[in-house]
Amino acid sequence: MANLVLSTMSSDDNAISSKIQSDTPSDDNGATSSETPLDTTSANTGSTSSKRSDAPSVDDNASSFQKQLAIDLVQTVLSKGDLSKWAESAHIERHRSLDVYHDFQLKSHNNLNIQEKSICEGENSGESGSIAATPGPMSGLEPCPLLIEAWKELSKAVVNFENEPVGTVAALDTAKDSLNYDQVFVRDFIPAGLAYLLKREPQIVKKFLLKTVRLQSAEKKIDQFKLGDGVMPASFKVCHQNDLNTKEAIVADFGESAIGRVAPVDSGFWWIILLHAYTKSTGDTTLALCSPIQNGIRLILALCLSEGFDTFPTLLCADGCCMIDRRMGVYGYPIEIQALFFMALRCASKYLQHQKDGEDLIELINKRLQALSYHIREYFWLDLPQLNNIYRYKTEEYSHTAVNKFNVMPDSLPEWLFEFMPRKGGYFIGNVSPSRMDFRWFCLGNFVAILSSLATSEQSKAIMDLVEERWQELVGEMPLKACYPAMENHEWQIVTGCDPKNTRWSYHNGGSWPVLLWLLTAVCIKTGRPHIAQKAVELAERRLMKDKWPEYYDGKRGRYVGKQARKFQTWSIAGYIVAKMMLENPSLASIITLEDYCQGRARPVLRRSRSWSCSTDKPKPMY
Ligand code: GLC
Repeated sequence: MANLVLSTMSSDDNAISSKIQSDTPSDDNGATSSETPLDTTSANTGSTSSKRSDAPSVDDNASSFQKQLAIDLVQTVLSKGDLSKWAESAHIERHRSLDVYHDFQLKSHNNLNIQEKSICEGENSGESGSIAATPGPMSGLEPCPLLIEAWKELSKAVVNFENEPVGTVAALDTAKDSLNYDQVFVRDFIPAGLAYLLKREPQIVKKFLLKTVRLQSAEKKIDQFKLGDGVMPASFKVCHQNDLNTKEAIVADFGESAIGRVAPVDSGFWWIILLHAYTKSTGDTTLALCSPIQNGIRLILALCLSEGFDTFPTLLCADGCCMIDRRMGVYGYPIEIQALFFMALRCASKYLQHQKDGEDLIELINKRLQALSYHIREYFWLDLPQLNNIYRYKTEEYSHTAVNKFNVMPDSLPEWLFEFMPRKGGYFIGNVSPSRMDFRWFCLGNFVAILSSLATSEQSKAIMDLVEERWQELVGEMPLKACYPAMENHEWQIVTGCDPKNTRWSYHNGGSWPVLLWLLTAVCIKTGRPHIAQKAVELAERRLMKDKWPEYYDGKRGRYVGKQARKFQTWSIAGYIVAKMMLENPSLASIITLEDYCQGRARPVLRRSRSWSCSTDKPKPMY
């Protein structure tokens, strides 16, 4: 199977990208477009004209939409609302651990205090607190040596194409066979991209978005089977000498070379989410509205909104189609994909407004969002009362009135869960499908659910409670477990197919991944508990650099550098940088958080199952 090759010579996206580049408010030469309100507070100097005749092919009505979007952006990103909500929840949570919280405030150079003060005093944070204008960690504050070191390592991982940065390699570990770690992975680039956005160097992100969308447009095949048009690559590589005899070429992998041959369902969603972060942080709406990007969004949506045999609004997936890219029993409806799907739909809908057939698509998205949020919030949610409900489930219920809709057997409840479930707290379980609930904790899915507001605010708080209550299990000595608990013995044999890389408490199977630090930090800020992230970052700081930025750690508490972990793993480095920057300036987290989502529909009327017994000790219906 031939990988898709994007040669340097004839790519018209280069023309597109160079045009767009000249319109970007904060591009390399420091040019600032005066059209977007976000730019008015930008620290960049110089200016360009607000409209250009050589603008990228944006639909005719786009410019008015750009203005509207820019206004929306200002309202959502920089508004008092976002920050005041954050501050409000920070106040609410203070009763939990007041002292630690105050410690955190002091440590973060009083940024937090300044923001809270301005909010409380009713200052317009939109004027003074914009992402672009807020002092960043690189400006005027005591430089953190570890952060400087991390930036040095991150810049080594940058990959150029035609002398312009287009991404970062997964790892720079010369001691190990590189396999595909010398490639730019879409999912791995997210924290690196965010780091550059926060540093106000958005060019690499823009180039990455344009290159990957260009790769998407080619035909992709595994043996003789053609993949959907919207599939985004798992990774790509810039080759300097290749068969085509061109100087440079980009070779993409859509899963046809990947171990297990699985297409990365998460790539397209991450791509949309990064596009949104780029737009939010730069105010440059031209990129999101240009034809290639619009087309890319539509192709991704076409893949996941098409009708089929589905009875659930969740996306049906193969095992290993996401961060956990090996057989780990995450087939079906994994929470990671569902949360990313939800977030990507919400982001995409912002850029489809007023476009050709955009309204139909938006309606489709809205319907899906409603059904998806209902399904996940109701059926994936587990806390102590719900665990007790499942424990007492009746089975073999037929008809619409069934309480145990998916016919889950109470005997399938694993032993560890009864101990693990705290009195206070809850989480979205890993998977829900017919007669199957995967009760494992998956960090990424739960945290993206918080960022995207797929989790209600009550659920978000409960997830954070769980992290605090089960700190030893989920964080231990190195943040954070991608999945908890590990599978062992027979279960490991059956579920992983005896995978020696995924033995108990290693790699995906209960290993600890420093990259997850950035997500932890963003959700801590969103839920008003930055002190939790501070604690985790301090733990990581004790070892990350000394251990040479490993990909993952092993052991129940994450005490050992992972058995086969790469060193100088880029997303471990970038994850730390983003966490650190956000802790220093919590308002930065808003580039990756979405406002509350309301289902907008009343909950369905609860009806009693026919097989529900009429005892005095009545179980609470699940649905
Ligand atoms: C591993 C991870 C995957 C990551 C890749 C490159 O395969 O499981 O999520 O994208 O390494 O770092």
